[in-house]
Amino acid sequence: MKTLIAANWKMHGKLDWVDKPAEFRSLFRANDVVDVLICPPAHMLEIMVRACAGHGISIGAQNCHDKTSGAYTGEISAQMVADTGATYVILGHSERRAMFGDTDEVVAAKTRAALGAGIGAGLVPIVCVGESRAEREAGQAEEVVGGQLAVCLSKLGPEDADGTNLVIAYEPVWAIGTGLVPTLEDIATMHDHIRGCLTTRFGVKIADTIQILYGGSVKPANAKEILALKDVSGALIGGAALEMDSLAAIAAAVE
Ligand code: PGA
Repeated sequence: MKTLIAANWKMHGKLDWVDKPAEFRSLFRANDVVDVLICPPAHMLEIMVRACAGHGISIGAQNCHDKTSGAYTGEISAQMVADTGATYVILGHSERRAMFGDTDEVVAAKTRAALGAGIGAGLVPIVCVGESRAEREAGQAEEVVGGQLAVCLSKLGPEDADGTNLVIAYEPVWAIGTGLVPTLEDIATMHDHIRGCLTTRFGVKIADTIQILYGGSVKPANAKEILALKDVSGALIGGAALEMDSLAAIAAAVE
């Protein structure tokens, strides 16, 4: 399985960031083991698709609506994201859950809309799950994440997840943007748990091919040990993905 290094730019970036893919490639050469994805704000999707095409970097959105079109002021549909040439969409990020009402049920509908040529937009959803600090301290982290996964993936049929069109990101809420990171053992335990949930849901053959990313304060300094863990198939990176030298250093940490 290839390792996915995914940059979540959040609400950062201007059109002149279009030079960043070339800068990244001058620092990290394409290879057979690492896929690189940049998720810029919506206004940059199309221009970034063009800028990244020559560099083998994929582009994704940070959110989409579950309806195809309609009177939803300020929203962007999965089809519109696909229309830009973007191929991925982050769904259920904890900031969306905390600030914009993205419940597990909403994430399920968006995941359904994003996936599946014919039914949905043909995007690869990166479905984010993760526990809060209080939930971890109460010993409920695995239960919470398992529950989130069960609902978020509830609208998918066996035809939807062939392992190449679905990505899961484990992002403990308390680790995002804080500099705090779970122990390697806790990350490994959670990724193993998520793999188990996916196996129950889709069967071992499909589950074993679904990439499970870790996200939350990934930096060049900790990337190597996190990415070396079994069942960690990549990283979703916020702050450290804004500068191409640190994003390249994280990509270079993939063994
Ligand atoms: P961070 O953000 O790397 O800045 O912690 C990760 C994310 O929100 O996806």
